[in-house]
Amino acid sequence: MLLLLLLVLAVGLNSASAAKLGVVQTEGGQVQGQSHRMGLFRTVDVFKGIPFADVPGKWEKPKPHPGWSGILEATKYRDRCLQVTLLQTKTRGSEDCLYLNIFVPQGRKLATNLPVMVYLFGGAFMLGASNDAAILGDSLYDGKEMADRGGVIVVSVNYRVGTLGFLSTGDARLPGNYGLWDQHAAISWVRRNIEAFGGHPDSITLFGQSAGAASVNFQMLSPYSKGLFRRAISQCGVALSPWALQTTPMSFTRKIARKVGCLRSDEDVMLTCLKMSDPVGLTMAGKLDVLLILGKGVVMDLMEHAPVVDGDFIPDEPSRLFHHAARFDFMAGVNSMDGHMFAGVDVPSINQKNANTTVEDVRGLLAGLTKEKGSAAVASAYEAYSSHWGSFPQPDVVKKTVADIETDFLFLVPTQIALQLHANNSSGARTFSYLFNMKTRIPGFPRWVEAEHAEDLQYLFGKPYSTPLVYFPRHRDLSKHMIAYWTNFAKTGDPSKGDSRVPAAWPAFTTQRRPYLLINHQISKSSVSYDLRSDYVRYWTQTYSRLPSNKREEEEEEEGN
Ligand SMILES: *[C@@H]1O[C@H](CO)[C@@H](O)[C@H](O)[C@H]1NC(C)=O
Ligand SMILES: *[C@@H]1O[C@H](CO)[C@@H](O)[C@H](O)[C@H]1NC(C)=O
Ligand SMILES: *[C@@H]1O[C@H](CO)[C@@H](O)[C@H](O)[C@H]1NC(C)=O
Repeated sequence: MLLLLLLVLAVGLNSASAAKLGVVQTEGGQVQGQSHRMGLFRTVDVFKGIPFADVPGKWEKPKPHPGWSGILEATKYRDRCLQVTLLQTKTRGSEDCLYLNIFVPQGRKLATNLPVMVYLFGGAFMLGASNDAAILGDSLYDGKEMADRGGVIVVSVNYRVGTLGFLSTGDARLPGNYGLWDQHAAISWVRRNIEAFGGHPDSITLFGQSAGAASVNFQMLSPYSKGLFRRAISQCGVALSPWALQTTPMSFTRKIARKVGCLRSDEDVMLTCLKMSDPVGLTMAGKLDVLLILGKGVVMDLMEHAPVVDGDFIPDEPSRLFHHAARFDFMAGVNSMDGHMFAGVDVPSINQKNANTTVEDVRGLLAGLTKEKGSAAVASAYEAYSSHWGSFPQPDVVKKTVADIETDFLFLVPTQIALQLHANNSSGARTFSYLFNMKTRIPGFPRWVEAEHAEDLQYLFGKPYSTPLVYFPRHRDLSKHMIAYWTNFAKTGDPSKGDSRVPAAWPAFTTQRRPYLLINHQISKSSVSYDLRSDYVRYWTQTYSRLPSNKREEEEEEEGN
């Protein structure tokens, strides 16, 4: 009897990791990944480095991959797209970079018809990769925990960044948006091939953070996306963010041309020269001139690599394209201190214990952000942001205001407008809004700092589970909640409905009511609030936008150079 029991157990354990895909047939050929054990009867099939397009030509749209014979061993991440390093002293990556990775959860039986979540990484349209930020072992964007705990297929994709991804003349000669076309090619590949991996091609959700979040929004607004996917999540960035659109692409292209020795008065000669230039030199020419802004200007001015209105993929100003997004369910939110990182560069005293931030610092920052308007804008914005200070403001109150200004301007207000435009245009699709405000885990920051830019990702990708020693149980609670809301949304279009239990119902954002969920480790019924920072949203969308514009002087300066 005991023997029989042992035998049954042994057979059971042996098949505990039995369900795995093995070799999968894709349109380009066969691929084989690796099966990772997650628990009893739970594995995740991981495929790394599957090509979704051929090696792209310089400033050309991605082309179909010619395919391969035999079995492609999809067990290693491929190169990131050519970009400058974090320290900007050299480049890394390759032009041969259009690859994606797939994470498929398995139980005892092979999974079929799973919802699919496609991740677009962030990095200011300049840096980043589908396998970025390997700090403790796996990449930050490793999809195993999300796939396993949420019961979805996770796909992460590469796209071109920097000069090779986004340089544009603003016309047909160099239309730009190459990185967006790469994303589109990747999503289309997923749609055509994911069924062979057990995915449901009609249930694709895009999600992304920062420049990846703005990219998600751009994909929603493009007429090329009609029927391609179903839902979208933008975390800390939308197409309306001031850093997400390059409105003077030719002056940036001239700047790059000057740096690589291609500046000519005849633009066509200049473009021919650029096209023949070495990709590494072109990429280096796109690095940030941080020294240039110290003392004059703000970090935002440095973010020059960005999508453009090309009359094709992005046919018009993003705010005029929300009718294209009417059928996609949309979830969007920001971190409560998304702007803190940028504020710390623009106004360093906010992070210094022994220094106070002055009224002049605050006015200087506002002047930098509102350059398109006259000095009246500085006075009006200053009034809006200092009205709660009282006559002798606490130093920390002034410092936090600086972070709030950047968060509102770069992230929060544009996200609220995008949510409204989506809800107002929706034809049956739903809209959800959140504010992630978990206290920062970055040591050394002042006490008033809440959730820094990108701090949401570690929880969504389940790091408190995969590297438990550096987290506390409360972090695992948060991780569990986020994975549940996100994957429920991918399954049903409603974050509160699906296979995963959530701690509180999250009501939809509509034309009439604007609820949002406060996301941290203690989510309860009282985590639902209304009208996120509506006084400030109203300030920027009404009072500020009615102020007269300045003719931009820098552009003329550029012309003269
Ligand atoms: C719908 O979106 C368009 C842009 O496509 C925008 O101009 C319009 O105001 C939106 N509709 C409503 C009712 O807000
Ligand atoms: C900062 O301001 C506070 C009061 O507002 C003052 O007590 C303190 O001395 C100031 N610190 C510095 C370094 O100026
Ligand atoms: C969306 O519609 C509401 C209600 O009609 C309106 O108050 C709001 O201004 C609209 N938002 C945008 C951005 O058009």
